[in-house]
Amino acid sequence: MDTFIYRDAQLWAEQVALNDVAERFGTPTYVYSRAHIEASYRAYDEAFKGAPHLVCFAVKANSNLGVLNLLSRLGAGFDIVSRGELERVLAAGGDPAKVVFSGVGKSRSDMRRALEVGVHCFNVESTEELERLQQVAAELGVQAPISLRVNPDVDAQTHPYISTGLKENKFGIDIDHAEQVYRRAAELPNLNILGVDCHIGSQLTSLEPFLDALERLLLLIDRLAAAGIKLHHLDLGGGLGVRYRDEQPPTPQEYIQAVQQRLVGRDLALIVEPGRSIVANAGVLLTRVEYLKHTEHKDFAIVDAAMNDLIRPALYQSWMDLVPVQPRTGEARHYDIVGPICETGDFLAKDRALVLAEGDLLAVRSAGAYGFVMSSNYNTRGRAAEVMVDGDQMHLVRRRESLEELYASEACLPQEG
Ligand code: LLP
Repeated sequence: MDTFIYRDAQLWAEQVALNDVAERFGTPTYVYSRAHIEASYRAYDEAFKGAPHLVCFAVKANSNLGVLNLLSRLGAGFDIVSRGELERVLAAGGDPAKVVFSGVGKSRSDMRRALEVGVHCFNVESTEELERLQQVAAELGVQAPISLRVNPDVDAQTHPYISTGLKENKFGIDIDHAEQVYRRAAELPNLNILGVDCHIGSQLTSLEPFLDALERLLLLIDRLAAAGIKLHHLDLGGGLGVRYRDEQPPTPQEYIQAVQQRLVGRDLALIVEPGRSIVANAGVLLTRVEYLKHTEHKDFAIVDAAMNDLIRPALYQSWMDLVPVQPRTGEARHYDIVGPICETGDFLAKDRALVLAEGDLLAVRSAGAYGFVMSSNYNTRGRAAEVMVDGDQMHLVRRRESLEELYASEACLPQEG
């Protein structure tokens, strides 16, 4: 399904012309499609066919309150990695009892707050964290629900920066030591063992690494059962890839079905933590061409969005599709699409054949995940606006940052003398 389509020679999000979004809210602006997010979430939810499950949207992929609120209305759970993400989920009306708390660096105050609001489960990433969580739970006089995040040592075959399931990564507990850590957890009075968790990486385009990890987790689950430790759920993390260019990732349905086939006869609820596959293709970044600069060596389109707005191309050399909102006819030139930031790495796309004029609107596709959330104020640039389109309506779900707010919390030195 794609809710961003060309009609009458221009690009629309559902029934809203992107040109109208830019006229009303300016650029750069992230635009999300409600229908697209709903359809992606439902594709997961319905794939389980009524078997016990929880789809916990990975908040890090897109933490806008409008997006979280929409997902919580659909019944989603959430995967969080910080106190900040927890507060966002609560502010958006999310149910804390459907929250799983991942991350290698949970502080005591993170733990306290999560216990107070009653999250579903802590995904514990080290023995040190386990001992700390026991202490904090004991101080509060409660039981902390836990899974161990194990590192199954499988190669996710994705970009090294977003691969997390290899032994050399900082994440999780080595699967070979996991049984020992579970035994320790079982001794601790304020911990309640619920399940096991893993997350091997992001933008996976085949099922094999997921299924390899699953096989290893099932062996662990059986060893634990033999030791008298019964697990109730299996959390496979996120990671299902999306199509940016010509990738053909499995659908959520194919993925869940393949997993379920391997769980037949087991009394285990399944948790997944998808981020990218729910929101990436539900969003675009709208940007306007400021200048066309032609040099002897290259043609540059200098646009008003930059690496501070969308860092994926600069950070991971990600290829993101970039299309004109109102395509022109004429002879295409090969442009590097760059931002106004003073860094050579500030580009959104390279060597794209486009017919452009100053003032044209462009849309960077697949920008709904790891887009706005990774933006910064580098070069004292205010962060972009975010708009949610719903049918023929547009809702501003985050207003553009004003320049004054960028330094409002700073101070000059006291007067001398
Ligand atoms: N669960 C955990 C524990 C994670 O660390 C992540 C992502 C997810 C779930 C969601 O994974 P997804 O379904 O979105 O693949 N900034 C990078 C991606 C970093 C992913 C980090 N962890 C990018 O722009 O490609």
